[in-house]
Amino acid sequence: MRHLISMEQLERRDIERILDRARSFAEVSEREIKKVPALRGRRVINLFYEASTRTRSSFELAAKTLSAEVINFASSGSSVEKGESLKDTVQTLSAYRPDLIVVRTPNVGAADLVARWSTAAVVNAGDGKHEHPTQALLDVYTLRERLRSLDGLSIWVVGDVMHSRVARSNIMAFSKMGARVTVCGPPTLIPRGVEALGCAVEHTLDRLADADVVYALRMQHERMTGSFVPSLREYAACYQLNGQRLSPRQVLMHPGPVNRGVELSADVIESPQALIGQQVAAGVVVRMAVLYELLAGRDVGTPRTSSPTPAPQLA
Ligand code: NCD
Repeated sequence: MRHLISMEQLERRDIERILDRARSFAEVSEREIKKVPALRGRRVINLFYEASTRTRSSFELAAKTLSAEVINFASSGSSVEKGESLKDTVQTLSAYRPDLIVVRTPNVGAADLVARWSTAAVVNAGDGKHEHPTQALLDVYTLRERLRSLDGLSIWVVGDVMHSRVARSNIMAFSKMGARVTVCGPPTLIPRGVEALGCAVEHTLDRLADADVVYALRMQHERMTGSFVPSLREYAACYQLNGQRLSPRQVLMHPGPVNRGVELSADVIESPQALIGQQVAAGVVVRMAVLYELLAGRDVGTPRTSSPTPAPQLA
């Protein structure tokens, strides 16, 4: 594997190999000196054109824990503000001979383009509403830690599926790992044809009791061009996950950042059934495993010959 752009690239055995390696890295975070020399001398550039708390800090920590050199590039404060394009920026930063570029942008397909423009390995840390494969991997990791296996689990993904890259990557990852996935939200926030990704669709929470795992999504206001729900109050009235709607046996997840009182009520965020903190913690070891896979794993140095098959186009 040269790049990680889409969950489509990964088979179940690839996911298992990466997550088993992540598990073997978990012990490093418990040490007093949280560092191993695995990627010593390698250069990683974090190229972030969108806001990020968890993803950027965990990629940085992951790279540093593996002893790589890291440059953090944020578009604000850079020459992007002077009009420099993504391509020119990538070509400029390529002069520093990075071994790997982690990229987040608001544009669908941008990570794939960066992989064509640079000789570095590329990890997609979110391209618009398209994909966020390392989020899906850390979510599978978190579920395996709590429930051992995803085989036969019913997982509901609730909320703004339409604008969510997490939803797209997670539907694929959960299905590949043997779970049955249902997406739920108002018709305006469920993309037409989403079933092609291998999930069922519900428009109400009436059958939520079927779920073993409930995965809540944030309303992606920054990607909305019109009005998709009458008001956040009405959305919350129909779709908010709270103590009345969830049973204590159900596991609750959210990629963060949470809009308290919209998709989740405060009581469930703090409850023991919520794995939100575990998801954040998993981000470091899973991203360590991804960096290791791409830089120290097999096929390092093989030039890119073809692009991954594009995901089904959803309306
Ligand atoms: C997600 C993202 O950026 O897509 N956040 C994250 O990476 N943890 C989800 C979101 O912003 O709602």
